[in-house]
Order: sequence, then structure tokens, then C-alpha cells
Amino acid sequence: MPKFIINGRRPLKGEINVSGSKNAALKIFPAAILTREKIRVLNTPEIEDISRAQEMLLALGHEVKKIKPGVVDIKFNAQKCVALPAELVNKFRASIMFVGPILATCGEVRFPHPGGCVIGAGTRPIDLFLDSFQKMGAKLEIKDGHYCLKAKKLKGVEIFFSKVSVTATESLIMTSCLAEGETVLKNSAMEPEISALADFLNSCGAKIEGAGTPTIKIKGVKKLSGGEYKIIPDRIETGTFAMLAAASNNGNILIKNCEPKHLEALWVLFDKIGVNVILSKDSVSIKPAKKLSACEVTTHEYPGFATDLQSAYTVLMTQAYGLSLIHETIYDRRLLFTDMLTQMGANIIMADPHRAIVNGPSKLHGRKLVSPDLRAGMALIIAALIAQGKTEIDNIYQIDRGYEKLEERLKKLGADIARQN
Ligand code: UD1
Repeated sequence: MPKFIINGRRPLKGEINVSGSKNAALKIFPAAILTREKIRVLNTPEIEDISRAQEMLLALGHEVKKIKPGVVDIKFNAQKCVALPAELVNKFRASIMFVGPILATCGEVRFPHPGGCVIGAGTRPIDLFLDSFQKMGAKLEIKDGHYCLKAKKLKGVEIFFSKVSVTATESLIMTSCLAEGETVLKNSAMEPEISALADFLNSCGAKIEGAGTPTIKIKGVKKLSGGEYKIIPDRIETGTFAMLAAASNNGNILIKNCEPKHLEALWVLFDKIGVNVILSKDSVSIKPAKKLSACEVTTHEYPGFATDLQSAYTVLMTQAYGLSLIHETIYDRRLLFTDMLTQMGANIIMADPHRAIVNGPSKLHGRKLVSPDLRAGMALIIAALIAQGKTEIDNIYQIDRGYEKLEERLKKLGADIARQN
């Protein structure tokens, strides 16, 4: 299995570019099912999860063509099937995003429970999706370990999400674009990727209002046209690089091609802990701090502090003076990776599955580690880059799922990181 070998404590400085957002890009491939016309996608990140999404579209009967790096054309060819291939569904949770568009255009869909990062209790639930599709008139049957949904025509309804969910919000936006009448989604998630998706669908003829607020109204239309979709910069990557810069603390790092306004919760925290940040419209410059102060954080849906940034922040707090409480409210397995930071020399106590206390600063030491999931894997890379000695990180497929050519970009900053196949 490929691994990263990292020799820590190399001075890091210079510039690093941010890729297109994984979580925005993942939704354009299922959205393409809603139109028979061509969609051109720009700024597409070249990562494993996107390859899986492209394979899914190919399996369903679309053409997917890479025009040049970052530019992909998608066009309907012929409907091959309404069943999502199990081997792809097992590999990424965002496969659930294909269900609504297939149901809306073909009247039926069949799929097993989706895989992906194991960061929630047991398997991550899909009840919000299933309940909402049924509310719109679909009949659900569970047979031979597969969900089967059928609906001649989906109807617009009012849906109140019992939990704020990014993918459930996006899925129901897509599904109701072609439904009969108006759908109103309440208690919706407000992430920038949702607004980006709604803007794109509107440019193709959809009638969506309120994306980026808790109440979204979608008036069903007969059909959607094709169009061009430029993926927004990855805010999680931006925040993660900013925390790497703050933790490594030895040179100026300029993070380019990003949208700092999507990370206000992080910049407020940086102010409190003493990181020097200069924000422009599309870049972030981080200068070494004299001394980092500890500060607690609670993860929250957007615009709060993203759960996807929690693991990198926890690593940063191992370098800060004092006690910081890390309160993970979204997923109950997301703090388990802190055990590996403890093995590296960090002083962390797990209070319960949702809260850990970091007592810093600690000197970290290189270790042999296994990446448990995408974001924790990236956090371990940050820890390895600031640790004394050599770290080996195994199971890096989990990191390749979401970060494009990571070692190349980190090497440009001066990191000593190599991929071993
Ligand atoms: C999305 C992001 C992921 C991020 C997460 C939270 C994508 C592809 N992934 O994941 O990177 O960590 O938002 O910001 O965009 N839940 C249910 N039932 C459901 C669906 C979700 O109970 O049917 C729960 C989840 O277990 C979790 C919470 O709702 O506790 C939020 O999850 P959700 O926003 O759905 O996460 P994802 O959309 O899967």
C-alpha cells in the first residue's frame, strides 16, 4: 500500500495553490444527470473521489471527457442502468448524491448503503434522504441489502430536515428541480458549496431561491439545459494549509487561489491565538507568530467552524501554550485520531467521544502511523511536518481521496515528503 515518508522540522515558506473544492466538484457529476445537454466543468480537482464520481457517471451511461488539466466535459449518452454499482458506492459516501437525480429522471433507482470515511457512529445514516424522497412520493423497498426507490413523478412538498445536512440539502435541491410544483426545504445547510450548486442549476434554467439560507424554495421546471460550472476554491484545503503555516511557524506562507471569505470562523480564532494573517480577496498570507495561545473550539455547521478543519486545528493546538478544549459536535468518531498525536508526544485527554483537551505546547516525534480518514490523515501530515524525525503514514488512499498532488505542493514549500509505492 502506498505511504508517505516525512522527515519533519524542515523550514516551510513560499507559495501554495489551492485546488477546486472537492465537496463542490463531487456534486456536479450527479447534477449532470438532470440534463441531456453538455456541461463543461472548470477547476476540477484531480483526486480519487472525483475519479470515482466520473466512473459512476460512465457506468450510468454518460460520456466524461478530460479536455485538459482541470477541464472536464460531461454529456448524456444512453441510459445504461438505474442501479448504482456497489463497488463504487462502497468507496465514497457522496455516491448518495446520484440517487435523487436518477430517481427524478428515470422513475427508479437501486443502491446499497454508501461507504466513505468512517467518522460517524457505525455507518453514516441516510435517513434524511430516504425520508425526503418518500415525502416527495417515492416508494421505498429494501431487498437483498439494497434500497429500491420508485416514483412515476416526484411532487414538490415541504421538507423540514431534522438535522442540518450538507449532502441532504444538495440532494433535495437537485431532486426537486424537475419535480411537479414547489418544494420548500427548511433547516437547510448553508455551506458555500450549496450556493455554488444552486447558482449553476439556476444558470441551466432551474428556479431555486434562498440557497445559502436555512429556507430554500425550488419551483419544478420541465427540463434543464447544459452549461459551464467553475468549481469554487476548496475552503477546507485553504484552512488546512493556513493551519500548517501557523503550526510550522518558521517562514511566511502565501496561500493562493482561495476565497478567504468562506473561512471567517477560522480567522477569528487565528486572531485569538495570535497567528498573523493578511487576507486579500483571493489569497491568505501567514507570518510566524511569536507565541501561539491555546483556545477552545466547537465545530458547527457553516458559517461556524467546520468539522473538516477540526483535526488540523487539534494539531495546531499541540503547539499552543495552555489548555484547549476541542468540542466535535458533528461526528462522534472524529477525535479518535488524537490517539496517534498522543503517540507522537502530544498531551491530549479524551473527555468523551465528542470532547478532547489538548495541553500544549508539546514536542512531537516521528512515528509509524496509519491514516484513519481523509481529514485526520491530512492532520497527521501536518503533525509529521512539525515533528522531530521520520514519520511513515500508511493508507494514504484516504488522503488522495481529497488532496491533489499533495506531496508536490508541499515540497515546493520546502517539506521533505516522499510517496513510497
Ligand atoms: C458533508 C461533507 C463533509 C463534511 C460534512 C459536515 C460532502 C461530500 N461532504 O458531508 O466533508 O464533513 O458535510 O460539514 O459534502 N446525518 C443523518 N442522517 C442523514 C444524513 C446526515 O443523521 O441522512 C447526520 C450525520 O451523521 C452527521 C450530520 O447529519 O452527524 C451532518 O452530516 P452531513 O452534513 O450530512 O454530512 P455529509 O453531507 O455526509
